[in-house]
Amino acid sequence: MSDVKISGLDDAPPENEGRIIQFNHPFTEYPYTLALYQSGGRFFVITDACKMCGSSLGRGTLKGMYAACAREGHPWHIKTGLCKFDRTQSQPTYRVQLRDDGLYIEI
Ligand code: FES
Repeated sequence: MSDVKISGLDDAPPENEGRIIQFNHPFTEYPYTLALYQSGGRFFVITDACKMCGSSLGRGTLKGMYAACAREGHPWHIKTGLCKFDRTQSQPTYRVQLRDDGLYIEI
């Protein structure tokens, strides 16, 4: 596990909006594509690709704490990763640390 900076404070999405984050893990070099959202003044990160349909959640919309693509077939809770309509399905989420120089996740 590593602390990875995923965004500067100036680049962070505004309230109720999302953004796609792409980076290679500093040790494993594994490429990650994640979705970063701001809600209630806090930041949340969930895997970008919807597990059910493959659509981008970072390009989707946020309603309450649920992110979904334009089809809105599978809204995912951005904190717990659970699917709204099928709670046996979940996507990985990552806790975001707000630091002086930006946003970090442990991954
Ligand atoms: S996020 Fe998969 S159907 Fe919209």
